[in-house]
Amino acid sequence: MYRSHTCGELRISDVNRQVTLAGWVQRSRKMGGMTFVDLRDRYGITQLVFNEEVDATLCEQANRLGREYVIQVTGTVSERFSKNAHIPTGDIEIIVSGLTVLNAALTPPFTIEENTDGGDDIRMKYRYLDLRRANVRYNLELRHKMTIAVRKYLDEQGFIEVETPILVGSTPEGARDFVVPSRMNPGQFYALPQSPQTLKQLLMVSGFDRYFQIAKCFRDEDLRADRQPEFTQIDCEMSFVEQDDVITLFEGMAKYLFKELRGVELTEPFQRMPWADAMKYYGSDKPDLRFGMKFVELMDIMKGHGFGVFDNAAYIGGICAEGAATYTRKQLDALTDFVKRPQIGAKGMAYARVEADGNVKSSVDKFYSQEVLQQMKEAFGAKPGDLILILSGDDAMKTRKQLCELRLEMGNQLGLRDKNKFALLWVVDFPMFEWSDEGGRLMAMHHPFTHPKDEDIPLLDSDPAAVRADAYDMVCNGVELGGGSIRIHDAQLQAKMFEILGFTPEKAQEQFGFLMNAFKYGAPPHGGLAYGLDRWVSIFAGLDSIRDCIAFPKNNSGRDVMLDAPGFLDQKQLDELSLKLDVKA
Ligand code: AMO
Repeated sequence: MYRSHTCGELRISDVNRQVTLAGWVQRSRKMGGMTFVDLRDRYGITQLVFNEEVDATLCEQANRLGREYVIQVTGTVSERFSKNAHIPTGDIEIIVSGLTVLNAALTPPFTIEENTDGGDDIRMKYRYLDLRRANVRYNLELRHKMTIAVRKYLDEQGFIEVETPILVGSTPEGARDFVVPSRMNPGQFYALPQSPQTLKQLLMVSGFDRYFQIAKCFRDEDLRADRQPEFTQIDCEMSFVEQDDVITLFEGMAKYLFKELRGVELTEPFQRMPWADAMKYYGSDKPDLRFGMKFVELMDIMKGHGFGVFDNAAYIGGICAEGAATYTRKQLDALTDFVKRPQIGAKGMAYARVEADGNVKSSVDKFYSQEVLQQMKEAFGAKPGDLILILSGDDAMKTRKQLCELRLEMGNQLGLRDKNKFALLWVVDFPMFEWSDEGGRLMAMHHPFTHPKDEDIPLLDSDPAAVRADAYDMVCNGVELGGGSIRIHDAQLQAKMFEILGFTPEKAQEQFGFLMNAFKYGAPPHGGLAYGLDRWVSIFAGLDSIRDCIAFPKNNSGRDVMLDAPGFLDQKQLDELSLKLDVKA
């Protein structure tokens, strides 16, 4: 063994002990005849002391140590003169009597400390060095604890972990697939699974009535802070269950994880909000309920007073920011610029302040009497000192989404999105379908295997857009932590669904025949859910991006800059795979 102890474990009670430590040189300082070295490993940092007067040769050796050298030292634990309350080993230091350099190191391209001087790109390129930093390592430790807790909870609930293949077939619904050419089947491709959805349903047909898997999923979609092309799901499926059974079991799991990993006791049942309400009051299917500012619709009050923008709008609505009437003209102009950014796309923003005497002063005073403005104030329940922000537009859904962005921005500006506060809810009653402009047809909002609500099944023929699904999402702090549904287990209903989604019977058979055929051999009623593991860890660790809890993540262009992947193949490999490239510049 190279060490008797780690760099995180020695305490004042160990004084006078002879120990051997091994680790990395975080930094060293020479002060007079003394040299101090911070030695780091996975468990912490311990200060080493070399004294020129005691052993000049050894001290000379220590002075030659560079950052990130891997060393082994032996010495005696001693009480530290100037204690460091910030680290658990801050009461002691090691008076070194022997030093071995196990490996020299080049100077790292950034400092490997909590507050590093390295930018994102360089840290991604040298991710193995970034992972030496305690705060990054903490996220992976948390991830490890989470997977252990997940396995424990699900095992206790009778779930069995089954692995499903990574090389599967391409399916047309959902995001774009990552594909893999098959050498043995020229011209044919596997796809990497976007989720093990159909496979877990087949396991239900096989009689595994409680399945789970910590599953790698792959989706070729545009990346955002909470999206990676390769991510991990806690994927689950159950037989003989209804929506309530699934929700109850996985709400239990959420509470278990919060308690075990964050020490947070969530005692109340989570709120269940119909999708239609989430859109109406928050403009989002993943509302952040850490704060209020619920939308108030103003069509009745504000329309028809000669203000053309509002008179012609299909939606007028606003939010009330408590105590924000102190916002200056400059701040309000900045907010207007914010909503006008192309990513948000509003045409403008109106505002109104409630003054100390209760009067309302607005940017559209020209068109509205104080009486109407008072009605508006009442609609919000606004008090003196509050600020009302209003958007309008000719597409109600789009305008609500813009108002959602404004609400979140105000939440940020007013410090209402506290990372240590958790607001969990289920969004339920999703529409079965959504219209796709790109595809020119209805698409499944969740996926095509989702069961429509029994009472809405008659609408499948007459008004498919009005059909609601037995689908549910768990949301925390504006992030979709997971989603699932009760599935169709009837081959005929499944075939009907594909028909509505625009598949010919032949195409449906070609793409999904394996599933529809399986349903003919005794498929139990079943349903399930998948939690996004990366998102769970990020919420618990208070991260801004899920990248920070993934050991080797991709950057925003989907590249692994450390491995320099994706990369080109040489001609021989292309020939073996029967591939010819036609890359457009
Ligand atoms: P869905 O597509 O909603 O459902 O995914 C489930 C959960 O996975 C997480 N997630 C992601 N995390 C990181 N990066 C991504 N690109 C990404 N995409 C999704 C989210 C999401 O809630 N098969 C169904 C589940 C089911 O019906 O059982 C599915 O995949 O947290």
